[in-house]
Amino acid sequence: MTDELTPETPGEDEQPIKQRKNGLYPGVSDELAKNMQSGWADTELRDLEPVEQAPYAARRRAALSRRFPGERLVIPAGNLKTRSNDTEYDFRAATEFVHLTGDQTDDSVLVLEPRADGEGHDATLYRLPRSDRGNGEFWLDGMGELWVGRRNSLTEAAALLGLACADVRELPDALRAASGPVRVVRGHDAGIEEALAGQVTAERDEELREYLSEARLVKDEFEIGELQKAVDSTVRGFEDVVKVLDKAEATSERYIEGTFFLRARVEGNDVGYGSICAAGPHATTLHWVRNNGQVRSGDLLLLDAGVETTSLYTADVTRTLPINGTYSDLQRKIYDAVYEAQEAGIAAVKPGAAFRDFHDAAQRVLAEKLVEWGLVEGPADRVLELGLQRRWTLHGTGHMLGLDVHDCAAARTETYVDGALEPGMVLTVEPGLYFQADDLTVPAEYRGIGVRIEDDILVTEDGNRNLSAALPRRADEVEAWMAELTGQRG
Ligand code: GLY
Ligand code: MN
Ligand code: MN
Repeated sequence: MTDELTPETPGEDEQPIKQRKNGLYPGVSDELAKNMQSGWADTELRDLEPVEQAPYAARRRAALSRRFPGERLVIPAGNLKTRSNDTEYDFRAATEFVHLTGDQTDDSVLVLEPRADGEGHDATLYRLPRSDRGNGEFWLDGMGELWVGRRNSLTEAAALLGLACADVRELPDALRAASGPVRVVRGHDAGIEEALAGQVTAERDEELREYLSEARLVKDEFEIGELQKAVDSTVRGFEDVVKVLDKAEATSERYIEGTFFLRARVEGNDVGYGSICAAGPHATTLHWVRNNGQVRSGDLLLLDAGVETTSLYTADVTRTLPINGTYSDLQRKIYDAVYEAQEAGIAAVKPGAAFRDFHDAAQRVLAEKLVEWGLVEGPADRVLELGLQRRWTLHGTGHMLGLDVHDCAAARTETYVDGALEPGMVLTVEPGLYFQADDLTVPAEYRGIGVRIEDDILVTEDGNRNLSAALPRRADEVEAWMAELTGQRG
């Protein structure tokens, strides 16, 4: 027995086995090392059909190629990030990469190489191949398949994605050696950025990021189908939560978070962002994700949660529910105002409308209500002009939705916030009113109440379609739905 992991006299096709640091592995004898190199079946899968995303991704790459002729374009998936010592956070591939490849594999990089004749680009997906059994990597290296699971071979990945594939370990040197104009999507892979240092500029890379963000503004039918799946699963998650509100009362907001997550996981999915499970005054904290508070009868629960499908499209839905099944008079008054604002917002979502229209429509309703309740001096026009309603409305009324919950965030102002709505866009409409627990400008009974209602809206040829319409919104419908789910109907 020996601790030396390198065979004494490697033959021509025998490569040295990697030495694991810090003696974390027990000694490996030469005999075992040799033994592990052979005796494995050929498991290459053949005749694979391309994944559903493949033709859509190909069209997106073709459009990208037309936008940047003659330039090398580098789009990394990103790397694993250390969570603790030698464990990693769950990997989530970069949105730009997913959109252009349909792939989600860590450490991969898409490269569009301009063709020598100046006509378009050749696309190559650089990725880790299967582990080499000849050098022990598959069982002695932490990234070996025996530890992390089987990867697709380069041939398999090429068939699945409809893309040429190559070994990613060859890419940094190839990039360093290359010449000609190049752009990279920054922020995902420091090693690739380092290899391109001196060849790229921040300004030109930002143009690439903007383009890729804007390319996602209008969704194709595959994306709309995935978003509908995400929303449908989210609806089931909300139903699950309503059914266990009594148990949540005995524990905390954590029970609600876990219940929603369980629905996502059992259906093979994940959540697209940290679920906001905000009971009582926590509802006034916009991104309450600590989820460690009490759930009390008589309070409201603001649940903002979205399932993310295996293709990484996410829903983003909010309902504000009476924990005991019935809104109090004041809760209902505030809820109805937010509902009315949302109705006005949704009505303003149609092709050709300015993106800002639905926000303005919702804010007007809320400003009028705040004046009517005597919380701010009117008229509503004055309130809106000075923005005084924002003390209680706090945030914009919605955003694009897709692979990112706040999708298309790098799009230019003129194409997004100052742009017009087009069929195929999907956005949230999510007005809210939030009275902080320590807000001395409102009567005491308002304090600690927060209400948001959020739906996912597809712009259609003649108006819009609410993808989350299966979840009741009107106060009396919410109460009836909760009673039905908890068996207290009538
Ligand atoms: N869930 C975050 C948002 O509604 O924008
Ligand atoms: Mn939300
Ligand atoms: Mn949202």
